[in-house]
Amino acid sequence: MHSDLGTGDARAARKDEHVDLALSQRGGGAHNEFDDLDFVHQALAGVDAERVDLGVGIAFGAGPQHAAGEWHWETPFYVNGMTGGTARTTRINRELAIAARETGLPMACGSVSVALDDADAARGFAVIREENPDGFVMANLGVGRPASDAPRAVELLGANALQVHVNAVQETAMPEGSRDFSAWITSVEQLAAASPVPVIVKEVGFGLSRGALRRLADIGVTIADVSGRGGTDFLQIENARRVAGEYAMLTGFGQSALACLLDAPHPAPTLLASGGVRTPLDVVKALASGAQAVGVAGTFLAAIGSDGEAGGAERLVALVDDWKLRTRAIYALLGAATRDELLATDLILRGRLREFCADRGVDLGALALRSERPRA
Ligand SMILES: Cc1cc2nc3c(=O)[nH]c(=O)nc-3n(C[C@H](O)[C@H](O)[C@H](O)COP(=O)(O)O)c2cc1C
Repeated sequence: MHSDLGTGDARAARKDEHVDLALSQRGGGAHNEFDDLDFVHQALAGVDAERVDLGVGIAFGAGPQHAAGEWHWETPFYVNGMTGGTARTTRINRELAIAARETGLPMACGSVSVALDDADAARGFAVIREENPDGFVMANLGVGRPASDAPRAVELLGANALQVHVNAVQETAMPEGSRDFSAWITSVEQLAAASPVPVIVKEVGFGLSRGALRRLADIGVTIADVSGRGGTDFLQIENARRVAGEYAMLTGFGQSALACLLDAPHPAPTLLASGGVRTPLDVVKALASGAQAVGVAGTFLAAIGSDGEAGGAERLVALVDDWKLRTRAIYALLGAATRDELLATDLILRGRLREFCADRGVDLGALALRSERPRA
């Protein structure tokens, strides 16, 4: 992901650096705002885990080049956009794609812009479709790319959807980053209009606010991944690439995924969430807060290994199988047979998440007593 500034080689080197820094900066066990949300335990409300349906429907509106519809995903979490374009990141994509095939998880790739400018780099992305011919695959482009890149990116992967990332905080900290964000909303609109498949607009770890989601809805974007703060931190990553780390002052900038979900406008685009998801409990908290599905990047990258060494896929398959089991178990504990039934759980907020929601006028009392609302 990133600015288009820099030569092809510099952009490729940055891909490997991002993987190294993302892995080395993972804060094992660090607090994030998923820890600021508790479910109220209802001792006699549980259901049979065998009855739980983990499937989710992701609704999207019509675009100039496709009809409205809904994707059905059997699992409510997916591999979020990360990488591709160098020898090493090609290995990573191969292992991720094998794991996605074996587990049925939808999978996104990292920004394909490097492959559109350099045919050699294209292999590092095409490998995803080669390894997973029938799976749900998302291509990825940065905002600001020419509209004609949208169909090229989709074609490269035979993609079912196109992620368009908006990453102003990252660009700000990036030594070679862009400083002009004024035409981004127009660019998103143009990319969406040119895409043959539905577009998912995503952040990269700083969140999409109520205002941002409204602006996206206004231009006809119907799916957004709020990708919030608390996991992979591209401010820290880009800052580490600077000699003097001048942008450390922005540490903590942005909103968490849960803050974005609870603050979202009504109506909003279909909401996906990511950023800081460490466990199946985090997945369920995001679903219960309004996400239709949950993206995981850093945690799955760590399972594959920094080199995409052969066998990395096996470790990720084992992890995903375990996550499916435990997600099902948590649904049963919470008395939810489906994702929609999670919306009747009672949520208690604290810490920074509570402060944010209170200041934004989110009805904390209503969240804490959702189970007592008459069911529709
Ligand atoms: C190594 C790495 C590279 C990434 N590159 C991209 C990218 O090219 N495009 C994009 O939209 N997001 C990219 N992301 C961001 C993720 O999709 C996600 O929004 C962010 O990492 C937060 O999720 P996490 O905390 O689960 O890692 C990247 C993440 C990682 C770890």
